[in-house]
Amino acid sequence: MENTKNKKIIIANWKMNPETFSEARELFNAVKKETRKLENIEVVIAPPALWLAQLKINDNDNIELGAQNMHWEEKGAFTGEISPIMLKDAMVKYVILGHSERRINFGETDEMVNAKILAAFKNKLTPILCIGETFEEKKEEKTQDVFKKQINNAFVDITEYEIEANKIFIVYEPIWAIGSGFTPAFDDILSARLLIKKILAGLYGRRVADKVPVLYGGSVSVQNAKDIINKGGMDGLLVGGASIKAGEFINIIRAVAN
Ligand code: 13P
Repeated sequence: MENTKNKKIIIANWKMNPETFSEARELFNAVKKETRKLENIEVVIAPPALWLAQLKINDNDNIELGAQNMHWEEKGAFTGEISPIMLKDAMVKYVILGHSERRINFGETDEMVNAKILAAFKNKLTPILCIGETFEEKKEEKTQDVFKKQINNAFVDITEYEIEANKIFIVYEPIWAIGSGFTPAFDDILSARLLIKKILAGLYGRRVADKVPVLYGGSVSVQNAKDIINKGGMDGLLVGGASIKAGEFINIIRAVAN
């Protein structure tokens, strides 16, 4: 499984941006060009689904495509949805699941997230599972309970063999840090990582838990990227706003690579 070479993972979540395909292509090509020179970084771009099949990756490119969401069924009467099989067909390797914007704005439940992870594994897509607490939950010191609930529910019916046979990333995205310019202290990021590992170890044992990369997301910038990795002990970053500005995202990649 991943991280044997200790590659850091940087994922761009473009959300519903940019406005046009020509801007998307320009941004994608700029990042793609940069990643060709790098060997110790894995870069994933998650654009709006409409453009997944149009953003081209060649054999020598060091970049992969991710979807921002998918349905758990493989086909059928699900108006507006996209299936894991369609993503595979478009050469997509990763899928962001359980992002707080989907949980809050579109009613995505832990049960749906679980069904989506199972569907991703079945279709050999790598889930990027997002978890994290609201500001109220943080104030009430409920972060640990939120992590336990979100992780335990996301992994229902998933065996340790499946975790070992597939790749899955967990991203700690405090909801209050998204788009706010605020991030947790590096010590708190490290504690979140250790807590996620502990919960996973409780479910699957330490050996399996050690194999699941844990990433951070929420107001990642050029200024904090390297410290989140080094002081926060994270295996990678999930970048929102800063990932739709080519120069800024490339500088984040460079900061982590160096
Ligand atoms: P920002 O980097 O804009 O805070 O967004 C984080 C995020 O939600 C990535 O999934």
